[in-house]
Amino acid sequence: MTSASIPFWGRVKQFYRSLTAAPLKDSDLKYIQRYLSEQERALFFQMDVMDQRHALEAARYAYRAATARGLGHQRHLIVKAALLHDIGKVKGDLPLRARAKYTLFQPKPGKDQNKVWAALKDHAQRGAHMAETFGTEPEVVRLIRGHHNPPQDEAARVLQEADNLY
Ligand SMILES: [Fe+2]
Ligand SMILES: [Fe+2]
Repeated sequence: MTSASIPFWGRVKQFYRSLTAAPLKDSDLKYIQRYLSEQERALFFQMDVMDQRHALEAARYAYRAATARGLGHQRHLIVKAALLHDIGKVKGDLPLRARAKYTLFQPKPGKDQNKVWAALKDHAQRGAHMAETFGTEPEVVRLIRGHHNPPQDEAARVLQEADNLY
């Protein structure tokens, strides 16, 4: 399922959840520490708290889904990718209006002139580049880069499902 195929009300719920995101707890910080290096954590904490919360929920789902589908050997990398998939959305970069427009109406590539919206559309590519620069595993970089494209394998499918659900 691509994010464009989430029904409109699903996207409204997603956006509402992002607005009411709770701050991270100690247990969340420990979870992040288990998967991310110090440099990757720096990238994670560059995101707004709503994106951090979304990434954490997605990661927990990805852990369960990877286990259920026999992807235990790749699970650590899939969880990492879920935690880092939106690091291309940097704090302060994305005013609420642009975020709402993006989440609710799913921009078509090449149709929008707005710079902020363009940054949002490019966040997968940008995030992959940031992770690569910080020495993240190539498989995780690949998953980040493709997370809004049609999934090429089961790991990418798990990540996309996790992204669409939270
Ligand atoms: Fe994304
Ligand atoms: Fe996401």
